[in-house]
Amino acid sequence: MVRPYAVKGHKRKKNKKEIYDKEEDEQENVEQESEEEEGVQKKLKSGVTESDEEKAEEAAQELVGIPVSLNEKQGNDKNTPSVVFVLEKASLEVAKVGKSYQLLNSEDHANFLKKNNRNPAEYRPDISHQAILNILDSPLNKAGKLKALYVRTEKGVLIEIKPHVRIPRTFKRFAGIMLQLLQKLSISAVGKREKLLRVIKNPVTQYLPVNSRKIGFSHSSEKLVDMHDYVATVDNDATLVFVVGAMAHGKIECDYIEDFISISGYPLSAAYCITRITNALERKHGIV
Ligand SMILES: C[S@@+](CC[C@H](N)C(=O)[O-])C[C@H]1O[C@@H](n2cnc3c(N)ncnc32)[C@H](O)[C@@H]1O
Repeated sequence: MVRPYAVKGHKRKKNKKEIYDKEEDEQENVEQESEEEEGVQKKLKSGVTESDEEKAEEAAQELVGIPVSLNEKQGNDKNTPSVVFVLEKASLEVAKVGKSYQLLNSEDHANFLKKNNRNPAEYRPDISHQAILNILDSPLNKAGKLKALYVRTEKGVLIEIKPHVRIPRTFKRFAGIMLQLLQKLSISAVGKREKLLRVIKNPVTQYLPVNSRKIGFSHSSEKLVDMHDYVATVDNDATLVFVVGAMAHGKIECDYIEDFISISGYPLSAAYCITRITNALERKHGIV
């Protein structure tokens, strides 16, 4: 069973599409909402009707209806060592395109980006979307081992995502949520005070447990390891903090990283890199 969430400070419209009882219902609703959303986006892009900022925001509000998972174990397992993920250099940037604010991406905003002397290839919020889904979908998270997930944008905005949030699976809805988050700074569960997604103060290190081991990932690291062997040797009492880049090119550079490792002789996508990490930990902890 799941419950929806909404942006703090807004009255939530009663909308039966936001009620999720079953997985099948959810799928159906996602499709219905996607169609509606496409309409809204088209209107926004053409500038025919929804032109002012307030209406653009209202349109984004229509995209909300994302449930949270009620798995009791998630983020709650106190008996076993937990893990933290930090996604660095995430391409999550909002700009006013035409008359509305949008989350910039290389596909929809190529002309806008070129006109503003920016490289469209660097605007890849889909990398963050896939990476976040892979972390939250992992059996490791479902077994309650994920303590926290932080995302730091290319511009240095730090976001906290609660392990039990169900992030939209379609990119358009994800972009809608991120747009709202970056404008309003937090998103709470409906009727609850808990902030499911929120912008928090830097640096990320202040939120990491004292006894934590910060491990950075890069294909260019000279320390090539087998991830299964690597997790087998790390201190069992320490909280493992995995720092993965959520950008298309370049290397993560964080002064808090203690060990920089490469986990394949090949360059991986952030999502695949995360899958290797979660698989290794699942194997270690016997999570099937
Ligand atoms: C699309 S890659 C970025 C490409 C960049 N050239 C690099 O490898 O750092 C996204 C992230 O996946 C991780 N990654 C990719 N390949 C990896 C590898 N072979 N070993 C460890 N991490 C890797 C890194 O954290 C990287 O920042």
